[in-house]
Amino acid sequence: MKHTDVYKIFENKEYIGKTVTVCGWVRTSRDSKNMAFIELNDGTTLKHLQIVIDKAKFSDISEFLKLGTSLKVEGVAVESLVAEDSVEINAEKIEVLGVCPNDYPLQKKRHTLEYLRTMPALRVRTNTFNAVFRVRSVVSASIHEFFQARRFTYVHTPLITASDCEGAGEMFRVTTVGFNPEYKTEEEYNEADFFGKKAALSVSGQLEGEVAAMALGKIYTFGPSFRAEKSNTPRHVAEFWHVEPEVAFAELDDIIEIAEDLIKHIINAVLEKCPDELKFFDAHFEKGLIEKLKNVVSNDFAVMTYTEAIEKLKQSGEKFDYPVEWGLDLMTEHERYISEVICKRPVFLTDYPKEIKSFYMKQNPDGKTVAATDLLVPGVGEIIGCSEREADLDKLLDAMKVRNMSIEDYNDYISLRKFGSVPHSGFGLGLERIIMYVTGVQNIRDVILYPRTVGSIS
Ligand code: 4AD
Repeated sequence: MKHTDVYKIFENKEYIGKTVTVCGWVRTSRDSKNMAFIELNDGTTLKHLQIVIDKAKFSDISEFLKLGTSLKVEGVAVESLVAEDSVEINAEKIEVLGVCPNDYPLQKKRHTLEYLRTMPALRVRTNTFNAVFRVRSVVSASIHEFFQARRFTYVHTPLITASDCEGAGEMFRVTTVGFNPEYKTEEEYNEADFFGKKAALSVSGQLEGEVAAMALGKIYTFGPSFRAEKSNTPRHVAEFWHVEPEVAFAELDDIIEIAEDLIKHIINAVLEKCPDELKFFDAHFEKGLIEKLKNVVSNDFAVMTYTEAIEKLKQSGEKFDYPVEWGLDLMTEHERYISEVICKRPVFLTDYPKEIKSFYMKQNPDGKTVAATDLLVPGVGEIIGCSEREADLDKLLDAMKVRNMSIEDYNDYISLRKFGSVPHSGFGLGLERIIMYVTGVQNIRDVILYPRTVGSIS
């Protein structure tokens, strides 16, 4: 269908005075005695294009004005008489592409995000989701740009796996046969299944990412991860997009530097490419958002050990739902207090107790902590989980034995420590969590097209 994207008409003065054809959906409309006005949106920009209708030129315009209707409009682009530095179209021909009934759920008033979640197919047509998905797209592209410019190889790790990377057992089973009493043991059942052994959706591409990094040096993965955790919170989904770089010859300090640079690169891309969207989020979701983002890119992130943070939380006098003790797995309330009140900026919390972290993390000489760090940001909490990996075969095996893990299931992974092991590090960034941070949207369900959460799939 020959037509011009609406964003081009706003961004290019050359269209003024020319006849153009545009397509889009009616967002709002207004009728008066001789004239009618339609705000048309085609999804290529947050801005609505005003269509000016001289009623004398059309026999019946009633179908054009209904919200949600899709139209093809031919007309002359002219400078707007009311809005400064804007364009509108004086309509010559209007064709209805798809009619829309009067009970279209998206009427003029501002709907709550909760209400919009009940209609995933339509909520994308609101300004909020229009802006969220454009930011999400720009962030995704910027992640590839960042790694490609630094010679990281993009690898695609499997989504179906036989190993549990995080060791938390929160995995979705992949099976083609239902269990029935015919199978005397779980082993017998697993053997009869598609792969001849127990399989699940991967919680992380890290283990396979490490395999690739031990040959390609610097790699990243960017794809979905799945977690069957029953946490019904504003920051957990069962299916999320996961960015996971893995770097050979890198210690914890090196990977922290890469993580900070990546976050700043992402924010700079959004500041540069999504000014209208950021203005929208600043006005409707988080006052001062743009200022916050500018500050983040021009200042260093804080770095603090877990032990120091526990001391500061205890001294704070703040009443937390979960009491603070060394050894505690920090809750969102603690993470947010540390970044929002104690540090007032993004902070890398380092050297966590080994008992609350994964088997693959490098054990520190103190025998109590591991070389791990989480990046905590104000408003969201943890957005990155990061560590130097245990490169010593015996120490890795010890950590697995303590956790009663089956060594046999991880033979491939363990072999990396036998054949030319090197210090290496990596991290996982949750795409939805960084989108929440850069937009100020507070519920993860509102930054993903179809959120999957415990008890909810549509
Ligand atoms: O801290 P996590 O569990 O780390 C890993 O999976 C490591 N294997 C990563 C690595 O070192 N390659 O998860 C990493 C990040 C979290 O910081 C969070 O941003 C995101 O993944 N994440 C989730 N996002 C949304 N919903 C969930 N249920 C998430 N679980 C983790």
